[in-house]
Amino acid sequence: MSEILSSWNEFSQALASCATEADVFNLKASYLGKEGTLNKILKDLKNLDPEDRARLGQEANGLKQRITEALDQRLDEIERLKVDTLLKEDRIDVTYRASMRDLGLNEAAYHPLTRIERDVEDLFFSMGFDILDGTYIEDDYHNFSALNIPPEHPARDTQDTFWFKDGVHCLRTQTSPVQIRGMEQYKPPFKFVSLGKVFRNENIDASHEMAFHQIEAMVVDKDISVGHMMHFLESLISKTLRSDVTVRLRTGYFPFVEPGFELDIQCQICHGEGCTVCKDLGWVEFCGCGLVHPKVLKEGGIDSTEWSGFAFGIGWDRLAMMRYGISDIRQMHGADLRFIKQFKSY
Ligand code: PHE
Repeated sequence: MSEILSSWNEFSQALASCATEADVFNLKASYLGKEGTLNKILKDLKNLDPEDRARLGQEANGLKQRITEALDQRLDEIERLKVDTLLKEDRIDVTYRASMRDLGLNEAAYHPLTRIERDVEDLFFSMGFDILDGTYIEDDYHNFSALNIPPEHPARDTQDTFWFKDGVHCLRTQTSPVQIRGMEQYKPPFKFVSLGKVFRNENIDASHEMAFHQIEAMVVDKDISVGHMMHFLESLISKTLRSDVTVRLRTGYFPFVEPGFELDIQCQICHGEGCTVCKDLGWVEFCGCGLVHPKVLKEGGIDSTEWSGFAFGIGWDRLAMMRYGISDIRQMHGADLRFIKQFKSY
């Protein structure tokens, strides 16, 4: 058997057992590389007589061409095989039925905040309120300045938050910027609520979180009084808690309302005895509220000699804590299914 023929047979066998692209490239190097079989054959040519040299040279070139083609072909095959396997492995069985349990739908329940959100939205919708969304990232103007909290105002210290590098945008500290956004959108009379997440640089404990939730309401109409405000607050409390929950209203300072109040409810964890949630006070701050400050109305393009309004902002997490007897606000973001499952039957 000629050297060329035996080299080809040897090569073909080796090629057939190449399973990966790397195998093929290694084989290529051992046949067509500098120290490879083909070069050795070509080197030996010089020892032959001219006739044999020409014949063998031609055969060697033919061999080189055949080897090159066979290598390419094998590479193609391996590539095709790879795609086939990938397709087989990645195939989605659309007839497969996932069990409800796997998805968590069977066992888990709605988050306490979701339950309250639905109650509050139902209630306010039935009373003719619009429901607005706000944005988590706010600008200085909507979160502070337009709410009568200019840059040097000490009230900014009570709502330390997370600022973006531009020094203009921040994570909103309250849902009250929705008051400004609502006024930009509506002409009076109007009424709306907005529920959402807010952020503050807080020391975290059983009743303080860095990200928490608020419910904001704003009504602008003729001759709005604190009496109107109390009517809507009482409706909300009796819908989400019970009508016999004891509340107290005391004066409170918020630059965007005048007069301003804080509404506290008797702690539903300890029923006024004192605990970590109410910090032994027996009362829990439930909401800031008051009549919309004329400067804020003006900022919203509303004539305060003709129109007046009220606004309130409720700590939505605390509302959930009071309703369900949850003694630690950190549970709200804990993502612990065991916590959520407890609310199945509510
Ligand atoms: N935004 C105030 C806070 O987060 C609450 C508030 C809302 C007070 C509306 C008055 C009117 O503390």
